[in-house]
Amino acid sequence: MSILNLYNNIFPSTEEFLLKASEIIKNGGLVAFPTETVYGLGANGFNPIAVAKIFSVKNRPSFNPLILHIDSVSSLELLTTIHSEKVLKLVDKFWPGPITLVLPKTVLVPEIVTAGNSTVAIRIPNNEIATKLIKLSGVPIAAPSANSFGMLSPTTAVHVANQLQNKIDFILDGGKCSVGLESTIVEFTNDNFFLLRDGGISSEEIEEFLCEKLKRKVLENNPNSPGQLKSHYAPIKAIFFIDEVDISNFNKEKTAIICFSDDKKYSEFTFRKILSTKADFTEAAANLFFFLHELESENVDFILAEKIPEIGLGKAIMDRLTKAVNHYR
Ligand code: TXA
Ligand code: MG
Repeated sequence: MSILNLYNNIFPSTEEFLLKASEIIKNGGLVAFPTETVYGLGANGFNPIAVAKIFSVKNRPSFNPLILHIDSVSSLELLTTIHSEKVLKLVDKFWPGPITLVLPKTVLVPEIVTAGNSTVAIRIPNNEIATKLIKLSGVPIAAPSANSFGMLSPTTAVHVANQLQNKIDFILDGGKCSVGLESTIVEFTNDNFFLLRDGGISSEEIEEFLCEKLKRKVLENNPNSPGQLKSHYAPIKAIFFIDEVDISNFNKEKTAIICFSDDKKYSEFTFRKILSTKADFTEAAANLFFFLHELESENVDFILAEKIPEIGLGKAIMDRLTKAVNHYR
């Protein structure tokens, strides 16, 4: 039996099922779909009742605003009141891609999408299945990551099915997400760019393009941006940083190690995951959530993670690991 048969809510991303998915979106239902970052749980972004279903399926606090996914820069004018050359230059460079812009919203954007904020988060994903679905649906698709609130983000259709189980009828399968970490979030206010979340495009790359430093908005425990909560993205298994524990206290058969690149270290442990043997941050980012999901179904009690150099995508990887560790600190 193929693995797909085990999940009656996973569908291949053929034209037929894309069309079906877009009908569900148009009719106010939910569809989980792949993006290059993580899988999203999508609803018609102009339909407040459809969007409300996302919050209930995810057990997500309703004060947590969502990202609107669009398929063309021309949709921006429907969603934001701002007309800025600076913003257009930035999105021309990085869209489609893993960067989300937070901009002043228009009246067309329902309050439930922005959780009452006067700003709205928007991005064009770099994934053909996602952009085809948006085009066929004819509306912006509001979508958070397709996980239960606070848990690991899904990077395959099976991750979505396992987490949300029978709470969702339709998951479009697009294989493993190529980036594997959520988008970088940048807010534009008063002619300044602020970094709200590290993600799939490094802050260095954005700063180099803008020829300016991104200001960091540190809003710890600000309910308006739970991606910024101290504890988030938590695997079910307790996770710690290796250098913060006494490793001799851990059973070598029942503890998993996550290393950055060195495949010789910690070889006495049965379960070891090397994020990238080439020490490549892009590959490491793509593997992080994927490996954590794998370890959730292995017979291990604890996960010990090595700290990653905080350069380029290393910052986003450390952000996710630190939030997972904080859950158990
Ligand atoms: O890569 C991604 O960004 C994925 C895919 C599906 O696009 N989506 C994702 O969504 O990670 P979510 O909901 O898990 O994270 C979105 C983050 C949240 O932390 C939310 O608080 C923040 O974006 N956000 C959304 N609208 C905002 C706004 N108006 N102001 C500040 N933060 C906002
Ligand atoms: Mg999320």
